[in-house]
Amino acid sequence: MKVQVLMCTYLCFGFVLGLKEVRIQTPIAVKKGESTKLYCWYDIEGDPLYIVKWYKSGHEFYRYAPQEKPATKSFVVGNLHVKESESNATQVTLINVDVDAAGCFSCEVSADAPSFQTAIASGNMNVVELPFQRPIISGLRNKYRINDVLKLSCSSSYSRPAANLTWYINNNQATESFASIKYINNTEQNISMSTLQFQIKSDSFYNGTLKIRCSASIYDIYWQSTEVSAEEDKLKITYIEPISNVIGINYHQPPPNFQLGQTKLDGEIDIKVIGNSAVRIISHIITLKLIGVCRFFIL
Ligand SMILES: *[C@@H]1O[C@H](CO)[C@@H](O)[C@H](O)[C@H]1NC(C)=O
Ligand SMILES: *[C@@H]1O[C@H](CO)[C@@H](O)[C@H](O)[C@H]1NC(C)=O
Ligand SMILES: *[C@@H]1O[C@H](CO)[C@@H](O)[C@H](O)[C@H]1NC(C)=O
Ligand SMILES: *[C@@H]1O[C@H](CO)[C@@H](O)[C@H](O)[C@H]1NC(C)=O
Ligand SMILES: *[C@@H]1O[C@H](CO)[C@@H](O)[C@H](O)[C@H]1NC(C)=O
Repeated sequence: MKVQVLMCTYLCFGFVLGLKEVRIQTPIAVKKGESTKLYCWYDIEGDPLYIVKWYKSGHEFYRYAPQEKPATKSFVVGNLHVKESESNATQVTLINVDVDAAGCFSCEVSADAPSFQTAIASGNMNVVELPFQRPIISGLRNKYRINDVLKLSCSSSYSRPAANLTWYINNNQATESFASIKYINNTEQNISMSTLQFQIKSDSFYNGTLKIRCSASIYDIYWQSTEVSAEEDKLKITYIEPISNVIGINYHQPPPNFQLGQTKLDGEIDIKVIGNSAVRIISHIITLKLIGVCRFFIL
């Protein structure tokens, strides 16, 4: 018995080496109508490849089998369009992605004799529709006095999903402890709106100016900001004026600290740039054949 268990352990270890690792690489988000590549990485350590199968939500839409002629084959699944000329053993290219292409993708790799091992990895992909314009800030006065209450709202037009909105006061992310922030997420219309409210203090002005920025983001593919500024009113008279100094800021790439609330000032003004989607790697291994072999030896 002991010997058998030892053999099993040894063999399992050996088989794990046969198909070492399967990893899938899917984009976090893709813009509707664009093309994208999904990758499947594996190391079969010398064993011949038998087949690679791709699934969307459990339905096979593409396979690569080197012994078959032709080696590639795609199947109709929803609105997925595979570009076979740019798909092979390690990648599949999807063209003209539709919103319903969003979801869970898996690649399953099987090795041929002698190991016959199979492993599968899954990853998620979102398909988004971006807002047609940068966020809009309203409610700003030209000048504020100490103790005035500043109340602004920021809205981002239709997008799918609705954008995330973040406020910055003098380049520092506004926190709930300092300001009242109300986020209105209109899921039906897919519009985001947020209000910012706080009382002006003497330290609200930096060099006599108060800068407020509203940033809209969607996953890792969209960042656009609008910045407004107001001056300190040192006179005793209060007056209301329309918005002054609206500056748009777009980033070439996601500010690395975007979610952390630090600042990034090197955006460029009035250039429409949408960053490239980074990729997320999800790694997951199931060694199906292994279990069978181990059971056999224990018995
Ligand atoms: C798949 O195609 C890409 C681009 O055409 C190429 O770089 C890659 O080496 C190919 N992979 C295999 C396993 O043939
Ligand atoms: C909006 O609300 C829905 C449901 O309440 C949630 O799933 C979604 O993530 C929210 N979107 C944003 C941008 O907060
Ligand atoms: C808002 O987005 C959801 C999914 O993200 C979609 O089901 C819904 O139809 C969208 N609403 C509108 C008005 O487009
Ligand atoms: C302060 O404001 C003045 C006038 O608006 C400007 O010339 C100066 O560069 C600013 N100083 C700093 C440190 O921002
Ligand atoms: C909004 O922010 C939350 C929290 O950071 C994140 O989980 C979510 O994916 C974001 N939604 C979009 C549409 O970017």
